[in-house]
Amino acid sequence: MSSSTLRLPARSLASLVLLTAAWLAAGTAIAAEQADARQAIPATQKQYRLVRSGEHGYQLQQVDAPVRMPGPHEVLVRVNAASLNRRDVFVMKGQYPVGQRDSLVPLSDGAGEVVAIGPGVTRFKTGNRVAAIFFQRWLSGRPPADLPSSALGGGMDGMLTQYTTLSEEGLVALPKNLSYEEGATLPCAGVTAWNGLFTRGRIQAGDYVLLEGTGGVSMFGLQFAVAAGAKPIITSSSDEKLARAKALGAFGTINYRTTPEWDKSVLSLTGGVGVHEVLEVGGKDTLPRALASLAPGGHIALIGGLGGFGGTIPALSILDRNESVSGIYVGSRENFEAMNAYIAAHNVKPVIDQVFDFKDAPAAYELMESDKFLGKIVIRL
Ligand SMILES: NC(=O)c1ccc[n+]([C@@H]2O[C@H](COP(=O)([O-])OP(=O)(O)OC[C@H]3O[C@@H](n4cnc5c(N)ncnc54)[C@H](OP(=O)(O)O)[C@@H]3O)[C@@H](O)[C@H]2O)c1
Repeated sequence: MSSSTLRLPARSLASLVLLTAAWLAAGTAIAAEQADARQAIPATQKQYRLVRSGEHGYQLQQVDAPVRMPGPHEVLVRVNAASLNRRDVFVMKGQYPVGQRDSLVPLSDGAGEVVAIGPGVTRFKTGNRVAAIFFQRWLSGRPPADLPSSALGGGMDGMLTQYTTLSEEGLVALPKNLSYEEGATLPCAGVTAWNGLFTRGRIQAGDYVLLEGTGGVSMFGLQFAVAAGAKPIITSSSDEKLARAKALGAFGTINYRTTPEWDKSVLSLTGGVGVHEVLEVGGKDTLPRALASLAPGGHIALIGGLGGFGGTIPALSILDRNESVSGIYVGSRENFEAMNAYIAAHNVKPVIDQVFDFKDAPAAYELMESDKFLGKIVIRL
């Protein structure tokens, strides 16, 4: 036997010892990592709840609440950011139907990371970046009959909470180009604007599009219209906000305070053509002017009632001019996913006015009520 053949086993033995040590160390590290991941999920968390106060409305309170580990087909999400919609102010004031609930976690909109999955989950794994869908049970096609009961921050507890346990069906993957804070703005205002323009509306490049005010829905409408090569015209009560909208690509801007007959300005800006798509958020005060601004064959997406709900749809002139009006109530998971693909493809970045810390959530509500913001208001958790 040569000395070389004698040395080989010794080297192999040494290698084996080293490999085994490395494997053991790696195994310990993996075990530790898994243990850390489990330890990182606390038994309790901070969350805000709206607690019924008197006959009308709710008070916002921060509470300690249990973290519920996910059951079959559920995932646990560590919420990193949430955002406000006008609806959340209405909910707090008791002006929005949430069922007979004495307390609820507010806000429909939030985004975060999947930190644990229950048995049978196939849509997500830990580490995935997700946003919750507004109506947890509207996945595709026509809305189910019991729509409001599955609305987050309404019929169901919402997203102003450090952890939430949801069905895997009630989440979508975040677009890769967005941060958690940007992703948290999408579920209500984003999906509503998307459906108004692309699903129920049929926006084309070159179309004139009318957006009312500079809130969440309208700013998404502005950005989607710009991305589609359309010409958005936006109204506001503030010249300063209009200047910001112009910088974001608005074709035309009108101050609805100083120009109360703003429909005439819309017609003038479009050379008498009128607009092809409208996101109607103003309600009874703006609807007549939105109708007067419409081009033949145009479409109005009925979305909101900032100035109060109501108004009349003139059946004969809608018919005569081949116009259409559709009611939009956010949308489905399928709509959300279509929008996310568009956002990623066009690198649309939601407009965030201000980001608040979790402890300052009441100040975020105050800003929304003040109307002194443009686009979205976000709370970082
Ligand atoms: N149907 C749905 O699925 C759906 C989804 C989302 C929202 N909504 C509704 O749509 C509306 C807008 O929601 P949002 O979350 O985008 O609101 P928001 O972010 O609170 O927008 C508020 C902005 O709208 C403008 N505004 C206020 N009163 C107005 C009026 N009378 N006429 C025209 N503009 C007015 C103001 O803009 P300036 O400061 O620039 O003047 C204000 O800052 C709300 O009624 C909301 O409930 C409905």
